[in-house]
Amino acid sequence: MLNKKISSDAPPSTAFRIVDVPDPYKDLSARRGTEGTFVGYNDEESPWVPFGENAAIRHLAFDVRNNIYSNILWIKKPGVIGTHYHRGKIIMLVLEGSVRYLEYDWLATPGGFIQEVPGEAHTLVTEHPEGTKIFGWMQGAIDFYDEDATFAFTADVWWFMNHYETYCRENNLPINEQLYI
Ligand SMILES: [Fe+2]
Repeated sequence: MLNKKISSDAPPSTAFRIVDVPDPYKDLSARRGTEGTFVGYNDEESPWVPFGENAAIRHLAFDVRNNIYSNILWIKKPGVIGTHYHRGKIIMLVLEGSVRYLEYDWLATPGGFIQEVPGEAHTLVTEHPEGTKIFGWMQGAIDFYDEDATFAFTADVWWFMNHYETYCRENNLPINEQLYI
């Protein structure tokens, strides 16, 4: 009952083979579920799409039901991504270089983990000579502003999807269905 032991150890099996676990909802999930996706780290599976003159975005996932989108943001040399206001939750992990926000006192280097929440506005900068690459898992709208705090545009899952599909169309690249879940 309640005294069932909770293990803090590694899982019990190290067998290097597929184990067919019992699934009470197998039929239901086959009819109503969806499959996971995989996008390899190469230009064929998802190209770097220009995002201004000093940045590019490598799109990884679009989920229109939850307004979720994932990508790698590459800022190629020291520079700024304009001030933006979040209406959803953001998770980021730095892969290369370093990055910080003008509003905070920390510097994120490879392995550094960042969470952002609705209601935050901030200005992303890199001062690293080789810029930065950041993995992001993002939800909800991001409102971008110019240096005079005038609203510029809203980026959400539709904006990011359009950014990807427009580039593919203009460059005769196939749309990778693995980006859509
Ligand atoms: Fe942000």
